[in-house]
Amino acid sequence: MRKVVLLGYMGSGKSVIAENLAVQMNLPWIDLDQEIEKTTGISVAQLFETKGELYFRKLEHQKLTELLQSENSFILSLGGGTPCYFNNHELLSQVDSIYLKATVTTLYNRLVLEREQRPLLATLPDSELQEFIAKHLFDRAFYYHKANYTVAVDDKSVDEITAAIRAILT
Ligand code: S3P
Repeated sequence: MRKVVLLGYMGSGKSVIAENLAVQMNLPWIDLDQEIEKTTGISVAQLFETKGELYFRKLEHQKLTELLQSENSFILSLGGGTPCYFNNHELLSQVDSIYLKATVTTLYNRLVLEREQRPLLATLPDSELQEFIAKHLFDRAFYYHKANYTVAVDDKSVDEITAAIRAILT
């Protein structure tokens, strides 16, 4: 049984790297946000809006616990906040957890273009986005660094990052 979990801030590339890694390692790819959307039939953005963040965090914790307790092998991409709530970061020490570490500049450049579906960022004016990311990342870094491994992703292609992860896992 093999469980590999990718974590990191929004825009760090968790989903795209997890999908690529899963293809290369011939394992299923599971995305935690998508699992929550499948179970509830509601998008993450809608869940935040209609039920509130705490409701989402509870579902996220339940789903993570369920997946980690299963007998299945998979590559799992988390949501950006997953390690920072309940005891999720402790659960991650039982598996191969990898922090995809990106600088604020990289994250800003990506997120300024793709944040409509991200409820925590969607309503921020462009002028406040970079500072928000910097502060938020600082708050979350403690949890992200609980991962078993860290891979720097700035200026690297999807294949380069995937190869770096595979080298760690062998
Ligand atoms: C969140 C990140 C999102 C999603 C939700 C909350 C966060 O996932 O889980 O909007 O708290 O950072 P991505 O990191 O895939 O955008």
